[in-house]
Amino acid sequence: MEDFSGFYKLSAEERLAKVKKSANLTDEEAAVLMDSGALKMDRADKMVENVIGAVHLPLGLATHFVVNGKAMVIPMAVEESSVIAAACKAAKQTLPDGFKAEADESIMIGQIQLTAVDDATKAVKNISLNRKEIMAIATQLMKPHERFGCGARDFQARILETPRGSMVIVDFYIAVGDAQGANMVNTVLEGVAPTLAKVTGAKVRLRIISNLAVKRRARASAVWKKDVIGEETVEGVLDASEFARNDVYRCATHNKGIMNGIDAVALATGNDWRSVEAGAHSYASLGQYHPLTHYYKNEKGDLVGSIELPLAVATVGPAMNTSPTAKIALKIMGVRSSRELAMAMACVGLANNFAALAALSTEGIQKGHMKLHARNIAIFAGADAEEAEKVAEIISAERNFDPEHAKEVLKRVRKG
Ligand code: MEV
Repeated sequence: MEDFSGFYKLSAEERLAKVKKSANLTDEEAAVLMDSGALKMDRADKMVENVIGAVHLPLGLATHFVVNGKAMVIPMAVEESSVIAAACKAAKQTLPDGFKAEADESIMIGQIQLTAVDDATKAVKNISLNRKEIMAIATQLMKPHERFGCGARDFQARILETPRGSMVIVDFYIAVGDAQGANMVNTVLEGVAPTLAKVTGAKVRLRIISNLAVKRRARASAVWKKDVIGEETVEGVLDASEFARNDVYRCATHNKGIMNGIDAVALATGNDWRSVEAGAHSYASLGQYHPLTHYYKNEKGDLVGSIELPLAVATVGPAMNTSPTAKIALKIMGVRSSRELAMAMACVGLANNFAALAALSTEGIQKGHMKLHARNIAIFAGADAEEAEKVAEIISAERNFDPEHAKEVLKRVRKG
């Protein structure tokens, strides 16, 4: 792995040249990135309906990540400044050990809703009596995907009492390999539903995947040594974490900070970030809405952080094939499976959360934020990487972030 220290000091072109070398990108792949990953009209038109253009986001790289001993650079697509820098800083502070991570097998839950049930207990019993036939249909429908380790694993029927009467909900557990799984799961559900209707006499309503992917969770942890981050930060993060655990208003923002990182990787890799969001927040709501991360101080006084959440993300599928940059992003990361991707995303979520809590509980986030903001304004004013540092310093000291002022300052810097 290339040495990515000082990556942020390079120009965008130099960064691209570096990542081209380290990730073995082809000239064509580098050209796509150079063109800002431009999603051409004809391609966009094949992805969704009524296309009139495309929206672009900056794609950056989070550096300094070591996940289970493997060094990685992680692409992040996000419009908010500081998010990538925060992930890099937090990851650097875990070195040399980095993060430990793991992910479950990719099992998704699909739900069939049966309504107009005369006798719900009897309906559940009849489903159970016909288990073999139902599983055989599901297994058959998953046959084309079996060679990728996919398959219908099990199902379970339960009664749901509602103001509209008793319903029977049948939850299917389906292994979807490296795909997100919605198409596979929904196909199976629509395929088995008529048999469920036949054996229960009930009416079939919804047949759809659940985004609360509790059987597809990823976990990550890291140690931030007190000698590296300081005792004040250790205590600050613990206080901040307790605030989120005991106050839902804070907890929402706490989890938002986690999703800053996770969504950015989801976007960069062509994944459905809405399903990731739905999964994360519904998981956080199990029991009482709670933080997705957890912190404690170990016997040495170091801070140990961990995260757990459902991450139904894919390394194969339609979006990966149509998005011009998703495959390149996955290549840069060097992940070979959806589980590896989920693990990396969990690490980024934890890193972003730690960085936010560390900053918020000590000096606040505005200082770092305004520094980056000033640098962006300097670049917007026409400064190159070296000039930007000087211009940013001056406009920050003068507390004047007007782009016109930045242009004046740039002129002064150039005159020496
Ligand atoms: C801003 O995008 C994210 C933070 O608000 C997260 C947090 O408060 O923990 C800084």
